Amino acid sequence: MAKITLSIIKADIGSIGGHIKPSEKLLQTVENYIKIHGKGLLIDSYVGHTGDDIAILSTHTKGVLNERVHKLCWQAFVTGTKVAKIQGLYGAGQDLLKDSFSGNVRGMGPAVAEMEIEERPAEPFLMFAADKTDPGAYNLPMYLTFCDPMHNAGLLLSPGIKKGFKFVIMDVSYTKADKFIELNTPENIYDIAVLLRDPNRFVVESVWSRATGEQAASVSTTRLHNIAGKYTGKDDPVALVRSQKDFPATGEILSPYSIAPYVAGFMRGSHSGPLMPVKKNSPISFFDGPPIVSCLAFCVKDGKLTEPADAFDHPYWDYVRVKASKKAEEIRRQGFYGQAMLPMSELEYTGVMDTLKELEKKFIIKKSK
Ligand code: F6R
Ligand code: MG
Ligand code: MG
Repeated sequence: MAKITLSIIKADIGSIGGHIKPSEKLLQTVENYIKIHGKGLLIDSYVGHTGDDIAILSTHTKGVLNERVHKLCWQAFVTGTKVAKIQGLYGAGQDLLKDSFSGNVRGMGPAVAEMEIEERPAEPFLMFAADKTDPGAYNLPMYLTFCDPMHNAGLLLSPGIKKGFKFVIMDVSYTKADKFIELNTPENIYDIAVLLRDPNRFVVESVWSRATGEQAASVSTTRLHNIAGKYTGKDDPVALVRSQKDFPATGEILSPYSIAPYVAGFMRGSHSGPLMPVKKNSPISFFDGPPIVSCLAFCVKDGKLTEPADAFDHPYWDYVRVKASKKAEEIRRQGFYGQAMLPMSELEYTGVMDTLKELEKKFIIKKSK
């Protein structure tokens, strides 16, 4: 059996009523495009949405960053954008930042998470998609799943997992090329924590098993403002994580999401809010948020996908959603103040900077006698 590639390519190409969700017609258009034009290229595919973002999961044998696969998804989004414009959807085509396709979609707007794998006899994996946040939103869950036995019991119980993992972490503030560092667990976990505490700058790009050398996780690291030179919306990242055997168990991968940590991306992409785990195809609502993350679990055999199991569709996660709502309520009480609004470098609008510039002229410096 040839190696199989799992690819998620996602974009916001327009939504109903502001930034709530894509229309049924838009979703159908993207799905049909992939079905029809992906024949002979893809083995299988799944199309769904998380908030206003449409994610295309596909399986094929072409490897990562494959031009034909990326072009297919790009064209699906271009075709969808036409429908979004006809329907008058908000932000039609907003994540398609370049006019024409070249090579692959990296650096063109859509987010990408891919990995080429040697399929195991049973190959369970998870597809994460988040809205109203940026790629650093996965930093804490990835850290806790792969480094902390409080979430990953396998680190104590399973010999393969005990050997640890290699983290590849990107410095996304460096825009001339990919700048990354490789750090191993368990010996480098404090260094990993030092980087991952700053999710605006350092982002987990991938995680690898030290027992087998196999890839365990892949995260999209796109920062749209680095491509466009200005803020064009939050990046709304996707991720793939393989589970079981030499990888963490599915429940160990989900466990950190019970924290609903505060992340960047609430209202106007400019506020902090709790990352709420939601069911598949969930919309956005309160204060254009809160930031949400969905998780679909699949098994894949010879590239053929099962139907997804909706990992956050369970009574336990209803309880977490209530907790996340309380956290949202709590931070909203302080409105624009302090930690509630993002630092200047992460604001999606120029309003604050413009006002500061005006006020600067009115400041008085008292001369000392
Ligand atoms: C992310 C998202 C937000 C918006 C941002 C700008 O999915 O929807 O980051 O892009 O709030 O919104 P507008 O275009 O309404 O100013
Ligand atoms: Mg949006
Ligand atoms: Mg979005």
